[in-house]
Amino acid sequence: MKSWTYTAVAFAQLFLLTMCVAQAQAGGAKNQGESLFKANCILCHGEDGTGNTPAGTALGAHNLTSPEFAKKTDAELIHTISNGKEKMPSFGKKLSDMEIQALVAYIREIENKH
Ligand code: HEC
Repeated sequence: MKSWTYTAVAFAQLFLLTMCVAQAQAGGAKNQGESLFKANCILCHGEDGTGNTPAGTALGAHNLTSPEFAKKTDAELIHTISNGKEKMPSFGKKLSDMEIQALVAYIREIENKH
C-alpha cells in the first residue's frame, strides 16, 4: 500500500514537471518563430505577414493573414516552407523541422490579429 502511494506521488511530480517543460517550450517556440520570421520572411511577406512589400508585390507573395489562407492546414504550410513553391524559396535545408514548426505557429498567431 505504501509503495503504491509513493509511486502515485512520483507520477504526479513527473506529470507536473512535464507540463512545466512543455509550457516553457511553447513560450520559447513562439519567440523563436517571431525572430525566425523577421530574419527570413519579412523581405517578401512583410512584418505583418500581408506581403505588402516591394519584393512581395513583385514576386506575388501571398497574404499570410487572409481568411483564405487560414483554411490551409499546418501540414500544407510546413510543406510550402520546406520545399518552396513557385517564387517562394525553400527553407528545408536552412531551417530545422522545429524551426519550421515555430514559424507555422507564428504565422497562425499573426493570422489571428487581422
Ligand atoms: C523571396 C521572397 C520570399 C521569401 C523570403 C519568403 N517567401 Fe513565402 N512566399 C513567397 C511567394 C512569392 C509565395 C507565393 C507562392 C505561390 O503560391 O506562387 C509565398 C508563399 C508562402 C506560403 C504559402 C502560402 C499559400 O498560399 O500556400 C507560406 C506558408 C510562406 N510563403 C511562408 C514563408 C515563410 C515562413 C518564410 C520565411 C521562412 C517565407 N515565406 C519567405 C515569397 C517569399
